[in-house]
Amino acid sequence: MARDRCWLLLILFTCGLTPEVAAETEISSDGPVAAQEPTWLTDVPAAMEFIAAAEVAIIGFFQDLEIPTVSVFHGMVQKFQNVSFGISTDSEVLSHYNITGNSIVLFRLVDNEQLHLEGEDLESIDATKLSRFIEINSLHLVTEYNPMTAIGLFNSMIQIHLLLIMNKSLPEYEESMHRFRKAAKLFQGKILFIMVDSVMKESGKVISFFKLKESQLPALAIYRTVDDEWDTLPFTVVSAENVQKFCDGFLKGKLLRENHESEEKTPKVEL
Ligand SMILES: *[C@@H]1O[C@H](CO)[C@@H](O)[C@H](O)[C@H]1NC(C)=O
Ligand SMILES: *[C@@H]1O[C@H](CO)[C@@H](O)[C@H](O)[C@H]1NC(C)=O
Ligand SMILES: *[C@@H]1O[C@H](CO)[C@@H](O)[C@H](O)[C@H]1NC(C)=O
Repeated sequence: MARDRCWLLLILFTCGLTPEVAAETEISSDGPVAAQEPTWLTDVPAAMEFIAAAEVAIIGFFQDLEIPTVSVFHGMVQKFQNVSFGISTDSEVLSHYNITGNSIVLFRLVDNEQLHLEGEDLESIDATKLSRFIEINSLHLVTEYNPMTAIGLFNSMIQIHLLLIMNKSLPEYEESMHRFRKAAKLFQGKILFIMVDSVMKESGKVISFFKLKESQLPALAIYRTVDDEWDTLPFTVVSAENVQKFCDGFLKGKLLRENHESEEKTPKVEL
């Protein structure tokens, strides 16, 4: 079972977590910005609205604001600009979310997942561990692939992954992403949408896993974790329609790669 879920993870481990990558995932801000604070959630409707409005929401549910975890939590707000941070000490809010004690919960729209940090895990948390938890688990409607998000992607219950493999510096990148996001909404809860910057060093192995050549990019690649089935669509002009057609075809069991190459069974993993 583990083998089925591990191709990207193996890619990850063979690359290692370079400090560069860790640094890249930290979002830097230009110039001075006002210190950001988590949003106080004082009643249940406010909390529900806050969660529903964010692709990724992280809420600190605290019964006691004096514990050291609270300041670690506050320290994250500045660092992760694409994540909505909330905080609540309201007993009704806590009981609505079944929180007893203190807890940090990550709510994710893309696969409707809730991840809890509580008990000893919470008490022993420091800034490094909490950052790592957030980096790994912040999956968006379109998640950018890196060695950290690779772990979160493979922990998701969603078993089909669609990758757009593209040079992020191309002038058509923004427009392509816009269309890719549009298609992602159609498959929310069924397929995880992933953007792979083909220029990034770590992407080389992803590209060769799918037997693609640099010259065939941008390309779409789709992969199902349970049976290792995959397909590619090289030379893609990204449109919501193209993406939808490719996904629908794969879901119906139609494989295009059998048209563009007849190949022997590939070895799963190169170690
Ligand atoms: C993060 O936020 C910035 C600015 O709002 C946006 O341009 C970027 O696409 C976001 N990244 C992700 C992964 O959502
Ligand atoms: C709280 O727990 C109950 C019972 O297990 C469950 O039905 C409910 O959905 C939970 N509430 C939330 C907000 O997850
Ligand atoms: C990516 O695109 C940029 C802008 O067009 C180009 O300068 C760069 O050479 C490309 N990188 C690769 C590896 O193709």
